[in-house]
Amino acid sequence: MRMENAQILEHRDIQGGYKRLVLRAPGIAPEVRPGQFVHLRVPHLEAAVLRRPFSVFDARDGALSILYKDAGHGTAVLKGAAPGETVSLIGPLGRGFPAECGGRMPVLVAGGYGMAALHLLARALPRRGIAFFGGKTADDVLCVDEFEALGWPVRIATEDGSLGERGLVTAPLDEWMKKPPREGVELFACGPMGMLRAIGERAIAGGWKAWLSLDRHMGCGVGACLTCVQKIHAPDGGWTWQRVCREGPVFESREIVWEDE
Ligand SMILES: Cc1cc2nc3c(=O)[nH]c(=O)nc-3n(C[C@H](O)[C@H](O)[C@H](O)COP(=O)(O)OP(=O)(O)OC[C@H]3O[C@@H](n4cnc5c(N)ncnc54)[C@H](O)[C@@H]3O)c2cc1C
Ligand code: FES
Repeated sequence: MRMENAQILEHRDIQGGYKRLVLRAPGIAPEVRPGQFVHLRVPHLEAAVLRRPFSVFDARDGALSILYKDAGHGTAVLKGAAPGETVSLIGPLGRGFPAECGGRMPVLVAGGYGMAALHLLARALPRRGIAFFGGKTADDVLCVDEFEALGWPVRIATEDGSLGERGLVTAPLDEWMKKPPREGVELFACGPMGMLRAIGERAIAGGWKAWLSLDRHMGCGVGACLTCVQKIHAPDGGWTWQRVCREGPVFESREIVWEDE
């Protein structure tokens, strides 16, 4: 982990309020592992001391990119940052996805910008499987071409039916899972908590592993402030708090204690 002033190389609209930011970060980029994130200080947002966490979508040739949604005050200001400006980054942060699947078929499941956390994994896994992308509308389904170019067929579901099947991403997943491959599956998911819980429950019921990347509000991003804690099952049968920014963001589904458990 290091802090770096990264120069903006490219900053462009993708679709529907999503942007792609490419940063020259020769210190951080070569160290990024799939599912890790950077903590970014939004330029010109002097009043806000807090950084914002973003998954690293891509990292190569001394540069890294993030995909982000205009979600609130910080990202609205970030949208105005121009190529040539510098952005302070801390990273790479967190425990990402294991880049192996034990001979089973890897299944990627993303809700909205969750696909950003899965892109480096899609490149790193030793074999190709299948990906399921979901969103509220077609605007929330991003970078399908880039996953397909890596050899991943992508099944799509949107809540309003504007792209792919109408409904939640679990609908095409459940349909596909009716005939799982003989070698079994290993699930890797990033998206809203409700989606992650649904994926985790399916993995436990099916006897598979599901690696889930949790999305939590963060303060420091480096383990000091405890803003991001999550209840995790302890070996003695009880539970303990763990920090999503340090021990996560990726946890195996059996580790997580969901809110009403
Ligand atoms: C590990 C990690 C990886 C992430 N990767 C991405 C990514 O690749 N692309 C992307 O667009 N976003 C990502 N996020 C979410 C992103 O950090 C928030 O959208 C961003 O911090 C919002 O900042 P803001 O100042 O614009 O919004 P604020 O003004 O702070 O908040 C606007 C709204 O967003 C909500 N919000 C703020 N932070 C989060 C959060 N972490 N999760 C859910 N809701 C939140 C607030 O409650 C509020 O309703 C990630 C979050 C985490 C923890
Ligand atoms: S964000 Fe501060 S401990 Fe995780």
